[in-house]
Amino acid sequence: MESWRFTVKFDRSIYELLGGDEGLRRLVEAFYPKVQRDPLIGPLFPENIDPVMEKQYMFLSQFFGGPPLFSEKHGHPMMRARHMPFPITHEKADAWLACMNEALTDIGVEDELRVFIVDRLSGPAHHFVNTN
Ligand code: HEM
Repeated sequence: MESWRFTVKFDRSIYELLGGDEGLRRLVEAFYPKVQRDPLIGPLFPENIDPVMEKQYMFLSQFFGGPPLFSEKHGHPMMRARHMPFPITHEKADAWLACMNEALTDIGVEDELRVFIVDRLSGPAHHFVNTN
């Protein structure tokens, strides 16, 4: 997908298009129950998901063009390094992206924006693959 076309079309940040802080909270709250139920990636996560949700909310805020909450609190994201302790395959990256796609649908994000966001996240997700 040629991202620049969307940059021109969507002349606001993903953060704003999702409804800012509140929209991001809703997304993360819709996302993690799906992750926890997923047979492939659910087992990687701790039972107490709240701290993970909080970090993801802060990370996505800055990744989507909002306030740099994650870096302010935790320093450089180094997301690939932070995922190294967990065995991540391409199948797991796809499972993560599928949960995100469903969460975006659940919170009522329109199709074109949803596809754009999932595409935007698929680079990082597959970049975090660290095992076969
Ligand atoms: C590719 C599939 C992915 C898997 C299987 C995965 C799995 C995980 C796991 C197991 C954790 C640690 C939970 C804990 O604290 O015990 C984690 C943390 C995190 N993940 Fe992912 N993740 C994936 C992709 C992504 C993507 C694409 C992003 C964002 C673009 C992301 C953002 C984060 C953040 C912000 C944290 C918290 C990091 C921290 O502890 O500082 N993850 N992930």
